[in-house]
Amino acid sequence: MHLRSFLSFLFMTYGLASGSNSHESAWNGHVSPGSDVPGRFYPYYVPPGAKSYDSSSPLIRYSGHWMDSYSVQFVDRTLRWTSAPRASASLTFTGTGIEWFGNMDRMHGVARVYIDGKRDRDVNAWSRSSHKQQRLYWKFGLPNGKHTIKIVNTAHGHGRRGHAVIDVDAFVVTQGPGPQTKQEAFVMNTLERPSGSSTEGSSWRMTQQGSTGVAAMQLAIISSSHALIIDKVEHNPLTVDGHPAWAALYNLKTHAVRPLRVGSNSFCAGGSFLGNGTLVNVGGNPVVEDHTSAADFGDVDGLQAIRLFHPCLSESAGECEIYEDHARVRMTSPRWYPTVLRISDGSAMVIGGSKKGGWINNATVNNPTVEYWPPKSIHGSKGLSIPLPFLMDTLNSNLFPIAFALPDDRIFMAANRDAMIYSWRDNKEQRLPQLPNGVRITYPMAGTSLLLPLSPSNDYTPEVLLCGGSTIDDQKASYEISSQDSASNQCSRMVLSDDGIAAGWEVELLPEARVMPDAVLLPTGQILIVNGGGTGMAGYGNVIDRVGQSNADNPILSPVLYDPAAPKGQRFSSAGMPSSLIPRLYHSVATLTPSGDIMIAGSNPNLDRSEIAYGTEYRVEWIAPPYMSQARPRIMNHPAKLDFGVHIELGLQLAVGTGQAIEVALMDLGFVTHGVHANSRLVRLTASLQNDGKTLTVIGPPNAKVYPPGPGFIYVLVDGVPSAGVQIMVGDGTGPEVDHEAWDNLLRKTAVDQYEASRKHTGKRKQD
Ligand SMILES: *[C@@H]1O[C@H](CO)[C@@H](O)[C@H](O)[C@H]1NC(C)=O
Ligand SMILES: *[C@@H]1O[C@H](CO)[C@@H](O)[C@H](O)[C@H]1NC(C)=O
Repeated sequence: MHLRSFLSFLFMTYGLASGSNSHESAWNGHVSPGSDVPGRFYPYYVPPGAKSYDSSSPLIRYSGHWMDSYSVQFVDRTLRWTSAPRASASLTFTGTGIEWFGNMDRMHGVARVYIDGKRDRDVNAWSRSSHKQQRLYWKFGLPNGKHTIKIVNTAHGHGRRGHAVIDVDAFVVTQGPGPQTKQEAFVMNTLERPSGSSTEGSSWRMTQQGSTGVAAMQLAIISSSHALIIDKVEHNPLTVDGHPAWAALYNLKTHAVRPLRVGSNSFCAGGSFLGNGTLVNVGGNPVVEDHTSAADFGDVDGLQAIRLFHPCLSESAGECEIYEDHARVRMTSPRWYPTVLRISDGSAMVIGGSKKGGWINNATVNNPTVEYWPPKSIHGSKGLSIPLPFLMDTLNSNLFPIAFALPDDRIFMAANRDAMIYSWRDNKEQRLPQLPNGVRITYPMAGTSLLLPLSPSNDYTPEVLLCGGSTIDDQKASYEISSQDSASNQCSRMVLSDDGIAAGWEVELLPEARVMPDAVLLPTGQILIVNGGGTGMAGYGNVIDRVGQSNADNPILSPVLYDPAAPKGQRFSSAGMPSSLIPRLYHSVATLTPSGDIMIAGSNPNLDRSEIAYGTEYRVEWIAPPYMSQARPRIMNHPAKLDFGVHIELGLQLAVGTGQAIEVALMDLGFVTHGVHANSRLVRLTASLQNDGKTLTVIGPPNAKVYPPGPGFIYVLVDGVPSAGVQIMVGDGTGPEVDHEAWDNLLRKTAVDQYEASRKHTGKRKQD
């Protein structure tokens, strides 16, 4: 879409009409005060901890013939350019990173860039259309110290051999210390070489490949080929419609990223698939304004947002977009940090959150309710929200509550130090024993949790595992909490049957304490725990002894495997586990992929993109369990749907010399954010191999309580080695029933974007 049509799209969709100076802060601050037309986005940006050197700086040494140009479109209104072959510009700087900004157009050509006298790469500034203040070259992760960048005009351009121009608008230097481990510049949209950090002699492998382009705060596998990544509004390098993007589709096969448009600020939303495969992304943040952030790209308030992402099954994912229209599709009330859970009728339950962005929750901003999408008439709610006392009793550390749909149709929830089972059909809570030893498990004392595999062998008796978090007192003021306060190493596990609850929590100890870990269910039923820090807590800019902006420190770089089926005392192992070099703290994610490896991305304990420790991390890592390099069975064909209790047939190719024990795992890969793996689930299915040795009869889960209807992946394990997963729609795919009366009532009784409206009232911000 061209800028003009994008603007009219904005105006039509969100009513961002003229008549005020409400967009002063928009578009990277490049809008003249008083203007209501957003200007073009210029990638020129000076992140925290960086320093800009204008083209006119005496520290830049020019050789050869250079000319000056003056325009308000240039950084500091000046630009220096040359068409002379071999003319060069060099800057000696002290720091860990360097960026070069300049123009791109048809006159421009190729420059050769040297770092510390060594040729680094060629940069082509030729472009069919004209762009100002572009980031032409960047390199981060240099050893902290003195370095020199030199750019030399090759004078070669597109059909202009020997005549092309290069220019310098500004250099931006990242002053140290950068993350010591951040040794590589990331390259957007291109394949990176695996870093070779895999550990020799071990069958677990870790590689680094690809870049997410937007910080990976929220992650969901949407098909066999793509992951959906959703971030907050910030200066990501990936752009869409001429401004930074904050959502993208990541191609799991080619590592290409495609930016997605998002209307509202999705910081920090939850998400879930519905029974028909549409993904809902729910809640977020108000527009962050100029004085707190430069990142304001024409987004609207996301606190009440419901963003719809319809099934996207084509290999290219080229047509898939996020749909948003708050006038028709929205929540009853603002929610920042809600958890979203698919339940047995295929609808989404939206749980808790705060009515306003902030940090640790409190009674003033708490939203201690649940609501549903699509809205329901239930317990007299007529589509409106339903109070949940548990969310009042669990203040303060209770955001992004942990929730799992249980096979008896009730909902397990954990928040702060407490747990309960909520019966949504009759609106009753059954409180469970408190977590042992004062451990808090939800934001900002974020731990992680999983529903352990459900199996017909024990009649789908549910059992939950909660790991990590913190024992820091959540009534303390931020200045009494340090990034160096130890995290918790406790895992708490309980069988959710009468006997199990009576027996209480079983405590086990992680080899290392972790706050903000991610727990990933594997098709084998084992759990890989990755990411997180050894000290501090979630969030940025709050506690004392921060590292950069990070409230947490001491990143845990090595994964640990947990085998829930092993005897107590033998469940954790890190033997042969490769370590990462990349800290993954606040806003990190991890998920199982359809192929069976684990994708790890994100880490951004910053208000906006930053290159200083702990900086914004765009690199992706992949952990391959041993089975990835073994002879694996293959699912050759499968039906599109798997209905409850119904037989289907899978075409199977066994690996040579195998075929003894066959198991089938039906998995929901979940929606991952803030350590919460909402909907993550493994259900073992009954299966038998037919006499032909290649047709597997599989029986669907017994009912929608055991696996809420919606998308899933089937992995077939032969002798414990899983195939790659194939996507299948569980249930009939029709999706949740829509109660139009409840929906109309919601629209009638609740205001759009209440938070923005209340601020408009105080005159602080005019939306339109
Ligand atoms: C799925 O259901 C939701 C809620 O009714 C609806 O908004 C969405 O359009 C449906 N998706 C598809 C693919 O039909
Ligand atoms: C409650 O939290 C909000 C959001 O973080 C904050 O602005 C407010 O000051 C807090 N109120 C109290 C009483 O702590």
